[in-house]
Formats: sequence, structure tokens, C-alpha cells
Amino acid sequence: MLDRLERERATSAARALSAQEAERQRIAAELHDEIGQTLTAVLLELKRVADHAPPPARDELHEVQETIRTSLDEIRRIARRLRPGVLEELGLVSALKALAAEFSTAGLTVRHALDGDLTGLGRDVELVLYRVAQEGLTNVARHARARAADLRLSWTPDGVDLRIRDDGTGLRGAAEGAGIQGMRERALLIGAELSVGPADGTGTGTEVHLRVPASDEDR
Ligand SMILES: Nc1ncnc2c1ncn2[C@@H]1O[C@H](COP(=O)(O)OP(=O)(O)OP(=O)(O)O)[C@@H](O)[C@H]1O
Ligand SMILES: [Mg+2]
Repeated sequence: MLDRLERERATSAARALSAQEAERQRIAAELHDEIGQTLTAVLLELKRVADHAPPPARDELHEVQETIRTSLDEIRRIARRLRPGVLEELGLVSALKALAAEFSTAGLTVRHALDGDLTGLGRDVELVLYRVAQEGLTNVARHARARAADLRLSWTPDGVDLRIRDDGTGLRGAAEGAGIQGMRERALLIGAELSVGPADGTGTGTEVHLRVPASDEDR
């Protein structure tokens, strides 16, 4: 009875997650195709108008063009983040490197250490690794006030290990929100274990640790 309940719970969690992935794909496509194209058209039109405008107005129009160009870049970035298509395009290791680069800013350095031979993990496992890394780094950027973060993915004797560690404020007793719960649900789907806690050694900071067992590697 309990077994059945647990199985049903896992199945409905899996269904919810794949619905969420599909929805993200749709939103990403709409952002990219619809809004992206509309803004591109506005940009072209603005350029045409600016070319015929008297000088003071022309300068202002150039500023508007710049603003629109910046939002276009931002929309493309959001679309890319929503769509794990990067996984298919780049493969897991390069997709994680791109993620680390994306989260590196003037105030935050994201280092990465990724084992070379990480092929053959299976699509589900790769997607979970990518999404956990993404949420982990999003949390670092949003909450940790860290100067540095490390993204590590390596083989262990028991399977594969993903760690996202930062040198920031630490959790300070914060309650888990949808982000960390989502990581837990995803971990459950592939039989992995997730822990979120203080980063040991450094005295401050947080570490997200996902342990994927070897038996689940070649799904
Ligand atoms: N790396 C971190 N450093 C410091 N605090 C963190 C870190 N990661 C999470 N937290 C704390 O844990 C809380 C819960 O994180 P969680 O990702 O579940 O939710 P959230 O980020 O607040 O919202 P969302 O549902 O959008 O992810 C955060 O609000 C924050 O207070
Ligand atoms: Mg979060």
C-alpha cells in the first residue's frame, strides 16, 4: 500500500516535471520568436526613422535603439535559460561551462571543475544535473552575496557527484522554497540524493550536493 502510494507520488512528480519542461520550451520559443522578432522589426524601423531625423532627435533615437538592443539580448538570454536545448546542442560539460560563465559577474567568480569523460549519463540524469546546477547557481547569485562559487562534477566510486559551493552568507536557517524543493523532486526522479547545507572547511557559505548512484547512469 505504502509502496503503491510512493510509486504513484513519484509518477505524478515525474509527470509534473515533464509538463514543466514542456511549458518552459513553449515560453522560450514564444519569447524568442514572437517578442524577439517584433523587437527586431522595431529596431529596423527606428533605424530608418533615425536616418531621416534632424540631429538632436537622431541622437535620442540612437539611445532608444541601444535600449531595445539591450532588451533583445536579455530576452535571448532568458530564452536560452528556459530551454535546456543547450544540453542537446553543446553536451552536458559545455552546457555547464556556459552556465558558469553566464553567472560570473564583476562581483562573483564562478569556477568550474568538470570531469572530462562524462558522456553516457542518460538524458534524464543530464537534465537533472543541469537543472540542479542552474537552480544552485541562481540561488548563489540571488541570496548568497558570495565572491566565489565552485561548480564541480566528477565521477566517484559510487556514481556521479555534483557540487555547487559558495563562500557567501550561508543559509542562516532559511526555509526551503520552491527552488530547493524542485531540486529534491528532480533528484528523487533519478534515484539521486540531494543535500543542501553549510559548505564545510571554509566556515561560511553553502553547498548543494547531488549524488547520482552508478546504477542510474546509463538510463
Ligand atoms: N547559496 C545560498 N546562500 C544563501 N542562502 C541561500 C542559498 N540558497 C538558498 N538560500 C536560502 O534558502 C531559501 C530557499 O531557497 P529556494 O531556492 O528554495 O527558494 P528561493 O530561491 O527563495 O525562491 P525560488 O522558488 O524562486 O527558487 C532562499 O530564499 C535563501 O534564503
Ligand atoms: Mg531559488
